[in-house]
Amino acid sequence: MTLKKNILALRQKKAIVEKGGGDKAIEKQVAMGKMTARDRILALLDAGSFHEYDLFVEHEERNFGMDGKELPGDGVITGTGTINGAPICIYAQDFTVMGGSLGLKHARKITKIMDHALKMKMPCIGINDSGGARIQEGIGALAGYGEIFYRNTMASGVIPQISVILGPCAGGAVYSPALTDFVFVVENISKMFITGPNVIETVLGEKISQEDLGGARVHAEITGNAHFYALSEMECLDQIKELISLIPHSNQFKAVKVEPKEPSFPKSIENIIPADPKQPYDVREVIYALADDSKFLEVQELWAPNIVIGFGRMNGDTVGFVANQPMYLAGVLDCDASDKAARFIRYCDAFNIPIITLEDMPGYLPGVDQEHAGVIRHGAKMLYAYSEATVAKVTVILRKAYGGGYIAMNSRHLGADFMFAWPGAEIAVMGPEGAANIIFRKEIMEAEDEDAMRQQKVQEYIEKFANPYVAASKGYIDAVIEPLETRELLLHALEVSKNKDDYRPAKKHGIPPF
Ligand code: HXC
Repeated sequence: MTLKKNILALRQKKAIVEKGGGDKAIEKQVAMGKMTARDRILALLDAGSFHEYDLFVEHEERNFGMDGKELPGDGVITGTGTINGAPICIYAQDFTVMGGSLGLKHARKITKIMDHALKMKMPCIGINDSGGARIQEGIGALAGYGEIFYRNTMASGVIPQISVILGPCAGGAVYSPALTDFVFVVENISKMFITGPNVIETVLGEKISQEDLGGARVHAEITGNAHFYALSEMECLDQIKELISLIPHSNQFKAVKVEPKEPSFPKSIENIIPADPKQPYDVREVIYALADDSKFLEVQELWAPNIVIGFGRMNGDTVGFVANQPMYLAGVLDCDASDKAARFIRYCDAFNIPIITLEDMPGYLPGVDQEHAGVIRHGAKMLYAYSEATVAKVTVILRKAYGGGYIAMNSRHLGADFMFAWPGAEIAVMGPEGAANIIFRKEIMEAEDEDAMRQQKVQEYIEKFANPYVAASKGYIDAVIEPLETRELLLHALEVSKNKDDYRPAKKHGIPPF
C-alpha cells in the first residue's frame, strides 16, 4: 500500500516539474511559434525512447529574490534516447522556466549529460533557447558556461556535437554552439548574438532588430556560424535525424552502412559540364550523378556557395564531398570557401569519413579585399587540412585546376591517394589568357595585329599546358578517365583504401593557421 502511495506521489511530483514554467509561460512560448523544450525532445527522438535524468535538481541561489523560488528542472531537460535506433544524449533549455537562463545547477545538468555522451561514445545534441547567464547567479552562471565550453573542447573530434538554436542564444552562450560540430537554425526563431540590440543601441547608438543582427538567415548566409537552415522546427528536427543517420557516432566507429543504391539522377554525367569551358554549371549535379541513390546532404548550403560540402554515400558507406561550385564566382577559392572546406575536411578526418574532392576552379580569388581579409592565412587552412587528413582522399579534376587552387584541392602533392582527371581538364599555373599575356607579352606587343597574336598564343598555351596529359605524364594524375567511368573508379578507389594506414610524426598537436 505504501509503495503504491509513493508511486502516486512520484507521478504527481513528476507531472508538476514536467509542466516547466506552467500554462501561462507555455502559452507565451507557443504564441511565439515555438515548441516547448519537452515537445522538441519527444518529436526528435524515437517514440518512447526518451529517458530523463536530474528532473528534481534545484538551484541553490539565495540572493535577488531567488530564495525558495521554484524553477522546475532548473530550466533544462536532460536525458538519453535514440534517433532511428541510434543512442544519443540530449539536453533542451526550457525558456518557460526563467527564460531558460543558465545558472550553475542548470549548467551542471548539461555537463553531466555531456560527460555521459563522451564516456559512452554517443552524439550529444543541445537545444538552445535561453536568455543566457542567469543574471541573479552572477559568477555561478559564468562558471557553468566555462565548464560547458571545456567539455565541448574535450569532446571535439571524439563524439559528434550538435547545437540546435531554437530561441535566443545570447552573450557568452553562443560560444558553446560555436565549439560544436554542427549548428542548426530556424527562420524567425533562432537568434544568436554576443551583444543584443539594446547594448548596441546604448553603446553605438545604432538601432537594429534581433532578426537583422543575428537571425537564422544571418548565420546561414553571412557569418557561416550555422550549418543547417530550416523554415520550421519540424523541418529542422528532420534535418538532424538525417545527419545522425549519416555520421559515425564516435571517432572509434564508422557510420552505419546501408544497402547501396545506384544513382537515380536523370541527367547523364557526360552532359552536366557545358561544352564552352567558360560556362557555369551546378556541381551538385555531378554529386547527384555519383552518389548512392543520388542523395546528398549539403552542409552550409547558403554560405560561401562557391564551394559545396556535404555528406553522401558510396556503396552504402558515408563519404564527404568537397566540390568547387562554378555557378558562384566560377568556383574560386576565397577566405570563406577555404574556412568552410578546411573545417569540413577536418571533421571528415576526425570521424573516419573518406573525402571525395571534385575540382573545377580558376584558383584563389585575386584582389585587395581578399588580401586584406587574410586570404593567405585562410587559404592555408585548406592546405593544412588536406595534408593532415589520413582518411582515404580521392580527387577528380572535372575541368579547371589552376594555380594554388590546384594544389589546395587535394592534389597528389598534399597526399591524395587517387587522382583522376576528365579529358577536358585544364591543369596549369594560371588561365591561358593570363599566362599568354605574361609570357608572350613582347610578341603580342610587337605584332601587327595584337589581338590575333594574343589568340594564337592563348591557343598555343592551351594545347601545350592546359590539359590533363602533362600532369599525367609526370604521374601527378593516376588516370585520365571518361565521365561515365567516374563512379566505378571512385567505388574501386574507396574499396582498395579501406585498410589505409597513414601515420603522421608524433606531436602534441600541430599549429594550424586558425
Ligand atoms: C535571468 C532571465 C534572463 C537572464 C530572461 N530572463 N533572461 N532571467 N537571467 N539572463 C527571464 C525574464 O526576466 C523573464 O522572467 C523570463 O526570463 C522571460 O524573458 P522575457 O524577457 O519576458 O522574454 P522575451 O521578451 O522573449 O525576451 C527574451 C530575451 C530577454 C531577448 C532573451 O529576456 C533578454 O534580453 N534577456 C537577457 C539577455 C542577456 O543579456 N543575457 C545575459 C547575457 S551575458 P519573468 O519572471 O518576467 O517571466 C552572458 C554572459 C555569459 O550570457 C558569458 C559566458 C562566457
